[in-house]
Amino acid sequence: MWLPCGCTSKYVASSFARRTLASYLHVSGRSRCNVAAFMPEAAGLEGVSGRAALRELSVSNSESFWAAVARHRLCWSTPFHTVQDCDLSRGKIKWFEGGKLNVSVNCLDRHVHTCPERVALIWERDERGSEMKYTYGELLEMTCRLGNLLRRHGVKRGDCVTIYMPTCPLAVASMLACARIGAAHNVVFAGFSADALAERIRDAQSSTVITVNQGVRGGKVTELKKTVDTAVQSCPTVKQVFVAMRTDNPVTMTARDIAMEEEMLKEDVVCEPAVMNSEDVLFLLYTSGSTGKPKGLVHTQAGYLLYAALTHRYVFSYHDGDVFGCVADIGWITGHSYVVYGPLANGATTVLFESTPIYPDPGRYWDMVERLKINQFYGAPTAIRLLLKYGDQWVNKYDRSTLKTLGSVGEPINTEAWEWYHRVVGDGRCPVVDTWWQTETGGICIAPRPSDPDAEIVPGMAMRPFFGINPVLMDTEGEVLTSNNTSGALCMAQPWPGMARTIHNDHQRFIDTYFQPYPGYFFTGDGAYRSEEGYYQITGRLDDVINVSGHRIGTAEIEDVVNQCPAVAESAVVGYTHSIKGQGVYAFVVLKKGIDVQEADLSRQLNGMVSEKIAKYASPDFIQFAKRLPKTRSGKIMRRVLRKVVESDLEGLGDLSTLDDPAAVQEIIQGHEKLLSKNRP
Ligand code: WTA
Repeated sequence: MWLPCGCTSKYVASSFARRTLASYLHVSGRSRCNVAAFMPEAAGLEGVSGRAALRELSVSNSESFWAAVARHRLCWSTPFHTVQDCDLSRGKIKWFEGGKLNVSVNCLDRHVHTCPERVALIWERDERGSEMKYTYGELLEMTCRLGNLLRRHGVKRGDCVTIYMPTCPLAVASMLACARIGAAHNVVFAGFSADALAERIRDAQSSTVITVNQGVRGGKVTELKKTVDTAVQSCPTVKQVFVAMRTDNPVTMTARDIAMEEEMLKEDVVCEPAVMNSEDVLFLLYTSGSTGKPKGLVHTQAGYLLYAALTHRYVFSYHDGDVFGCVADIGWITGHSYVVYGPLANGATTVLFESTPIYPDPGRYWDMVERLKINQFYGAPTAIRLLLKYGDQWVNKYDRSTLKTLGSVGEPINTEAWEWYHRVVGDGRCPVVDTWWQTETGGICIAPRPSDPDAEIVPGMAMRPFFGINPVLMDTEGEVLTSNNTSGALCMAQPWPGMARTIHNDHQRFIDTYFQPYPGYFFTGDGAYRSEEGYYQITGRLDDVINVSGHRIGTAEIEDVVNQCPAVAESAVVGYTHSIKGQGVYAFVVLKKGIDVQEADLSRQLNGMVSEKIAKYASPDFIQFAKRLPKTRSGKIMRRVLRKVVESDLEGLGDLSTLDDPAAVQEIIQGHEKLLSKNRP
């Protein structure tokens, strides 16, 4: 693995960076009340006297707001001429057109210019106590060498490079190197199987893949290069695979493979950044929807970066010099926005967490907080629920006095977990921000902060929309619900710079999924409740997407795999409440007639198939074999009924009059009880 070597003196700022920095560094000096201290660029906005007024203006006059923020926070080589050109009804979203910039310059060069020795990355390696620090100068050098290497191997502006790596400095440098030379990246979570990886490589039409020889997580070695070898067999577009060395173990290299670190050493430490348009693609990131095929959401340069940076700064109250610890994997949007782009755009020190919350013991996070002096900690409710069960002593052993803000993301955080996080981890002194957002939104949309320092925070509620975010709730008729103390489908009435621009190769699917259900609005797929006070609480997905340990998975994706088994006639997968994972996977399977197999054997086979074709986390916790599934007279599976059965909510089964054969429900209920009694401890 590329090691920090303190060679920042080799760095020579490119002429591009010098030119753009000169224009960036001048900031308007006008100030008004405390707004100037809170958000300097807002001081120039008419009629803004406090935070509430600023939030108001960010929605009512969003163009002025975003223009001021974009001018102040990004380093442009050419200023934009149009703040936004959006038409939600057509799924058209464009921000800062005319503007030119380079994302890697914004994340690296400008900080190297002012403080090259500042630490950009702290790599908290799986092996406890062996963390490594990389300064901005070193990260820039790594990025430039890699950018040059990719260029030398023919990667061009507009190409899409697939990155299949664990969270590590070279993965960050790979993302930034793509950004530097104008290529898009497609990071695939290193827990995905060869088939899932291959599908994403093919859809993204990548000819270049970057990986490591082996991954190390929780003390276990994973054969990532071998997985890539298997995947690329079914990816005719792939011409080259760059292989970095995370462990010392050699792997078989083919003619297609390139030893990454070795080749990087031959490259120059200066790499001219590509001058990108605001709306050029920065990355694709695949996520699950309600059909079997994952969708490659597309994020572009300026708007995404600006939104990630602004939310990172204000939701977490990040200040210069803080150490920001987001423990998400870079394979998910949280890793993109709050491990890489947001923190680096703000010149932060960001932690790359390679391990698990319980390796080598359940004190891992808090030991890390003490060792690295983390100021903001951002994690997932599933990990908090898990750690809570191990007891307070694992937390109390460590000094957590550096912590200022605690964040939660990915799924609803239940009150018990929230209270424990606040009371035990944060000693009751740190605000807990439950942040709601999605791969589609690019960054946090609803969170308790920013708000006045003493403003209340209600446990388990995301609460307040961020600057420029205008949420609305819709009733079943598609009408906007205007009153408080009400629930509905969560939509956004206005565009914001961080939102996804399209689905790669399928703009129609983008429109159909997000803009067609409520014309003129962006539909999130989630339901929400708005309290009497006007605070938002997310109530969960309204579509067939479930959330296992904060990882999204479409039930249809799992069904597609299960249905490939020759013994299976049909299946239906639903989520159920799981005490640690948030949701677990429950599969109903109907076998073909005349099939004679042991159910236990078939269950094992089906679990194996799902792990192999998708990922381990998608593998069903329960498989219930049934003679038939409850269906409507028109033949649609009544998932609503199945969901109620697995939650043991028989009172809530609702109207069964449209069922083709009500006896099917009784069979399902009995089968469920039998399965539960077998699995009770
Ligand atoms: C869910 C993760 C409740 C939600 C950043 C959303 C949440 C999906 C929260 C997006 C939260 C995320 N409270 N639910 N604070 N945060 N979700 O794309 O259902 O992996 O639609 O992005 O996770 O998952 P994704």
